[in-house]
Amino acid sequence: MLIDTHSHIYDEAFDDDRGKVLLRAKGAGVERIVLPAIDGESNEALFELCRREGDYVVPLMGLHPTSVNDNLRWREELDEVERLLKNPPEGIGRFYGVGEIGLDLYWSRDFYAEQVEAFTQQIELALSLQLPIVVHTRSAWEEMTEIIERYRGRGLRGIFHAYSADVATYERLRECGDFVFGIGGVVTFKKSAVAEVVRSMRLEDLVVETDAPYLTPSPHRGTRNEPAYVRFVAEKIAELKGLAIEEVEAQTTKNAKRIFGI
Ligand code: NI
Repeated sequence: MLIDTHSHIYDEAFDDDRGKVLLRAKGAGVERIVLPAIDGESNEALFELCRREGDYVVPLMGLHPTSVNDNLRWREELDEVERLLKNPPEGIGRFYGVGEIGLDLYWSRDFYAEQVEAFTQQIELALSLQLPIVVHTRSAWEEMTEIIERYRGRGLRGIFHAYSADVATYERLRECGDFVFGIGGVVTFKKSAVAEVVRSMRLEDLVVETDAPYLTPSPHRGTRNEPAYVRFVAEKIAELKGLAIEEVEAQTTKNAKRIFGI
């Protein structure tokens, strides 16, 4: 069985056929789907899905770095994240982590200081609530790593989602706490740099993810991504490491359960 550790199936891209998408995930051996939050605008859809699907989905709560850019309400949104983590809405047992949070300098560096503030504030929140973090990083691996290194030895844990930096950065980050690295559809692409990095990563440090509806793995690249496709990611990791798919499934699922406490 597999766990899709990063999926946005509450997104409107699934409004027409979410039930079928969930059935296909179950049919493909996906035993749980982790739902990272983005911001206040999409939270209600996330809660609605949790109320309907119960334990099959694993909700997180956080403010995404691209939702800090140009968002005059981002401080209020952070207060709301804290309030929700401490008092989950009706019908939601609890949140299993703080995410997705991080740094995204791909679109603009104009809100770098604000992104750092939102990121560190949410790291502190995760530490105080003893929850794992799920970190989004785009065009900011060095900046993000330097922040995480400041927390070394403080019991921080979590997932570096969509891992795409080099082996040296992987070694630095894994020294900082109980961290695993999310591998998604990009690993299946032709000439994927992360595929080469995965060969050097320990299976005990990996979890699989889709980031649905984005980053669709081969052979479905170019279409909407969905949790059932996480199997293509696991198959690619097995191929790259010369392991049986069953071993990749069992270990990545064990890693995900340890991080989220499920
Ligand atoms: Ni995401």
